[in-house]
Amino acid sequence: MKTMEADLKLAETQTQFVPLSVPEIRGNEWEYVKECLDTGWVSSVGSYVERFEKMVAAQAGTEYAVATVNGTSALHISLLVAGVRPDDEVLVSTLTFIAPVNAIRYAGAWPVFIDAEPTYWQMDPSRVLDFVEHQCEWSNGELRNRKTGRRVSAIIPVHILGHPVDIEPILTIARKYNLKVVEDSTEALGSTYRGKSPGSLGDVGCFSFNGNKIITTGGGGMIVTDREDWAKKAKYLTTQAKDDPIEYIHGEVGYNYRLVNVLAAIGCAQMEQLASYVEKKRAIAGRYQQALAGVPGLTPMKEASWAESTYWMYTVLVDPLAFGISSRQLLKTLESQKIQTRPLWQPIHLSPAHAVKGAASLPVAEHLADHALSLPCSVNLSDHDQDRVIAAVVATASGRKS
Ligand SMILES: Cc1ncc(COP(=O)(O)O)c(C=O)c1O
Repeated sequence: MKTMEADLKLAETQTQFVPLSVPEIRGNEWEYVKECLDTGWVSSVGSYVERFEKMVAAQAGTEYAVATVNGTSALHISLLVAGVRPDDEVLVSTLTFIAPVNAIRYAGAWPVFIDAEPTYWQMDPSRVLDFVEHQCEWSNGELRNRKTGRRVSAIIPVHILGHPVDIEPILTIARKYNLKVVEDSTEALGSTYRGKSPGSLGDVGCFSFNGNKIITTGGGGMIVTDREDWAKKAKYLTTQAKDDPIEYIHGEVGYNYRLVNVLAAIGCAQMEQLASYVEKKRAIAGRYQQALAGVPGLTPMKEASWAESTYWMYTVLVDPLAFGISSRQLLKTLESQKIQTRPLWQPIHLSPAHAVKGAASLPVAEHLADHALSLPCSVNLSDHDQDRVIAAVVATASGRKS
C-alpha cells in the first residue's frame, strides 16, 4: 500500500507543467549569435539587422522593412510616419493587447474603440463604417468627430490570435475618407488574408517578436511598408533622427528604437523556421478542433473562408451554463493539474488606463473577454501533453454533468 501511494506521489510530481506558449529554439540561433559575438557586431549596426529586415519584408510581401526594439515602438513610429498628430483620433480594436492603444497616446492622439465581430472575434468593419458615417463629418478634405471636433486620421485594425481582420471593407472606408491604415499584425505573422500577408494590406504594418509570438528575438519588432519615404522616415526616427553622425546634429525629436544585431541574428534563424512553426500551430489547432468540437458549451475559434490562420494562440469560448463552469473556473481547474491557460485581455475601453467616463458598452468584446480561454499551443507541444489538456477539459465537462 505504502509503495503504491509513493508511486502515485512520484507520478504526480513527475507530471510535467504544460505552459501556454513558449519559444522554440531549434535552428541556427546559436551559430548566428556566436558569429555576432566572435566578430564584435553586437549592437544596432550589423549584417543580421539588414538580413532580418529583408526576410520579414519578403514574408510580408512589402518593399521595405525597418527593425525596431519591439512591436510597441513599431506601432508608435508607424503612427508618426502615417501623419497622426497630437489631438487626432485613431480608430482601434478594443479587444486587443493594450500596446496599440498606448502607442496612440504616445503620439498624443486619442483612441476611438471599435467592437469585435462575433464570428472571428476581430475588429468589426460594420462598426467602423457606423462610426465614420454617423458620428463624423467630412469637411475640407478632413474627417472630424462631430462630438469632440477632433480630426480622425487613422485606423489600427488589430489582427488578433493569428487570424486576420476582414480588412477589405475597412480599406474601402479609409480610402473614401483619407484615413491611414496602420495594421497591428503583431500576432498574425505567417497568416494570410485573401492570399496576402497582414501588414502588407494597409499603408504600414507592424510585427512583434516578443517571447510569446510565433517567432521571437526575445524582444523585437518590425515596421513593413511599400512606401519608400515612410520606410526612410521610420529608420530616421528610430535612430534618434540623426542628420549628421559626426557632428551629432539631430533634425527633430527621435527615438532609440533600433533592434540590435544579436537579436536580429536570432530573428534570422527563427524566420528560417516560420513555415514549419505555422504548420505545427495549425496541426495543434486541428487536433483541438476535432477533440473539443462535441463538448457542450465550448466554442472553438474559427477560420474564415478568406483567411489562413496560424492559430497563434488557440482559444475557445466557454459558456458557463452549457459547460458547467466559467472560463475562469476552468482556468483554475486546469492550473491545479499543472496546465497553464489564459483569458483574453480586458477590452481596452474598460481599462483603467484608457477608459472614458460614460463610454458606451461594446458588448461583443465584453462577452468574448468574459468567456474566452487560450489553451496550451507551444510549437513544441507534444501529442502526449495536448492529449492531457484535452482529457482534462473533457473530464471537467463530463464531471459537471454527472
Ligand atoms: C496585439 C499586440 N499589439 C502589440 C504588441 C506589442 O508588441 P511588443 O510586446 O513586442 O511591444 C503585442 C504583443 O506583445 C500584441 O499582442
